[in-house]
Amino acid sequence: MISTLETQAKRPPFSPEKMAEVQGVIKQFPEGKQKSAILRVLHIAEEEFGGWLSPETMDYVAGLLDIQPIEVYEVATFYTMFNMQPTGKFVFEVCRTGPCMLVGSDDIIEYIKTKLGISKVGETSADGMFTLKTAECLGACGYGPMLQCGKVYHEHLTPAKVDALMDEYRAKYSSENNNN
Ligand code: FES
Repeated sequence: MISTLETQAKRPPFSPEKMAEVQGVIKQFPEGKQKSAILRVLHIAEEEFGGWLSPETMDYVAGLLDIQPIEVYEVATFYTMFNMQPTGKFVFEVCRTGPCMLVGSDDIIEYIKTKLGISKVGETSADGMFTLKTAECLGACGYGPMLQCGKVYHEHLTPAKVDALMDEYRAKYSSENNNN
């Protein structure tokens, strides 16, 4: 059941399709345990509301799950996969944990910063195309240095591979937009 708090939230509601998806996720848990749906619902909210979780979005999710907003903030800020501010079209999350660091993740991070013309991790390139983030171990330790973009892993990174990757994503973006 969707909480009456939903109507109190400032966030515009999910589209009917997304709301049906959210309800389906919530129904997978017993009554009173709907908080367990939080990770999936936050992912859906991120997809629906521009790729990041604003305070209004998190308050809205809290209303849907009938929990306190602080409970949503705690989860959303704990996991690096959630974006707490607007991002570029593509988010590069570079693993910075030991095994990847030993094979050059720091150099890759510096290289990406230079390429994007940004001064620190978390920033977005001036053209709004790429955001650089770092992440803890992404489970591909034998393939470092590596990064995740959306659902795709890019491994054994070198500066040349990073250049090719950026060209590939720019081409993907322009082809998607020329087809719309
Ligand atoms: Fe980078 Fe595990 S340490 S993927």
